[in-house]
Amino acid sequence: MRVFLNDRFVEETEAAISFDDRGFLFGDAVYEVIHLYQGVPYRLGPHLERLERSLAGAMMEPVDMSLITRVIEDLAGREGRGDPDAIIYIEITRGAAPRNHMFPGPDVRPTILLWCRSAPPPAEDRVEKGISVITVSDDRWAKCWIKTVNLLPNVMARERARRAGADDALFVRDGMVLESTASNLFIVTDGVLMTAPVTNYILPGITRATVLELAPRVGVPTKEEPFTVEQLMAADEVFLSGTTSEVLPVTTVDGRKLRAGRGPVAKKLKEALHEDVRREVAAGLRD
Ligand code: PDD
Repeated sequence: MRVFLNDRFVEETEAAISFDDRGFLFGDAVYEVIHLYQGVPYRLGPHLERLERSLAGAMMEPVDMSLITRVIEDLAGREGRGDPDAIIYIEITRGAAPRNHMFPGPDVRPTILLWCRSAPPPAEDRVEKGISVITVSDDRWAKCWIKTVNLLPNVMARERARRAGADDALFVRDGMVLESTASNLFIVTDGVLMTAPVTNYILPGITRATVLELAPRVGVPTKEEPFTVEQLMAADEVFLSGTTSEVLPVTTVDGRKLRAGRGPVAKKLKEALHEDVRREVAAGLRD
């Protein structure tokens, strides 16, 4: 597999990153994950805008987005072609310099890494049955809107879920359920779709925004409001949204089966999402 590192494409076996890299030493880096459907990057613009916001939020210098776009197009054309589902991963670190908490000088260039890998969406039987989640106290920092590689709380929460026999974990802060370790969270109550509002405490997901955009078109009203674990437990439907999870129903929370199971709203929204994907793929393949 060929990957892009800093200024060129190299074979993955040739790609070497310094042990002085600040991404490795401090988690001093931001990232993006973009879904390629049949080699076409879905919602590329919003992903790149979020990458720019993450860079600014992490006090990193802007990176030339036309370079990133060209690399994505190249990877998508070569590695993603013929694959119905793949992801492009982008990581930008503050670069390599002898370990010092202080930012390095302007002569230190960021490390830029992009690769493309096959990434099948959740299997249909998982979507059909719905997944199980646990709730965990949100011990992440207060800038969750920056898509940083500092994912220790996320990976530990996911491991706690695995050890509890569940698939994912939901972060709860001050009694409010926010999102999962790598997806946003929606509930449906009395026909209204609800998700936590965009604050410092969630990642403003691109799929979340897409779902909020598509819901009214399929006759589902939406509300961006905080909700509690009790509201989650009593909801008619619960589902996750994300670049890799798409629309993924949740049917068990903390070992308790929800009353709804996989509901009609999640089904409708997943269909609407795939319809939107088909439109973008058709437009992308025409270009
Ligand atoms: N995760 N919330 C968190 C904490 C996330 O890490 C992600 C994405 C999302 C969903 O965002 P989007 O719809 O833009 O993918 C919400 C990516 C996929 C990951 O870390 O692999």
